Amino acid sequence: MTSLIAVLAAYLLGSLSFAVIVSRLMGLDDPRSYGSGNPGATNVLRSGNKKAALLTLVGDAVKGWLAVFIALALASSLGLTVRDIALVAVAVFLGHLWPVYFRFQGGKGVATAGGILLALDWRVGLITLVVWLVIAKGFKISSLAALVAALLAPVLTAWLMPERDYLYATLLLSVLLIVRHHRNIRDLLSGREGKIGQSGGGEA
Ligand code: G3P
Repeated sequence: MTSLIAVLAAYLLGSLSFAVIVSRLMGLDDPRSYGSGNPGATNVLRSGNKKAALLTLVGDAVKGWLAVFIALALASSLGLTVRDIALVAVAVFLGHLWPVYFRFQGGKGVATAGGILLALDWRVGLITLVVWLVIAKGFKISSLAALVAALLAPVLTAWLMPERDYLYATLLLSVLLIVRHHRNIRDLLSGREGKIGQSGGGEA
């Protein structure tokens, strides 16, 4: 019962779409109505408001981190197993992708996955983050950085985390993240993917 409540709470936390919340609070258009249509930091940046994009990035990352951090911190007192914590990680991610508060129109999961990885194992999170940053800075293409990071994360998890359930969770996160980027992959392959801050990113 406790694990079910933890998973449900993680899903509800993940459902807080910071792209939509921050945009509403700052009087900006709904990010689902312009650019790629994705409620995520990259698309909020297309509004021209860097502060809103940064707040979205931080908010989406922190909710992923917080769900797993709380589950880990309370694991022994609540009797949560490694599998329960892996399920919490998946649940907060699913909340971001299919948020109950926003008609299940969620984002692609990049920032939230980053927060989850940092909480599961800071080494995996940090290496993935650095790779994401290097590619994003080098190529100026957000989706390319996200896709490379998504391919790398399960490899790092297999290497650095002994718990099989964390590997399964990371694999699932990566598969869902890559599937969510299907328009970006199409545009990357055809050379039409926009640079960070420009339009593009698999226009909706
Ligand atoms: O974080 C999402 C990013 O990888 C792609 O976003 O808006 O360009 O599809 P977007």
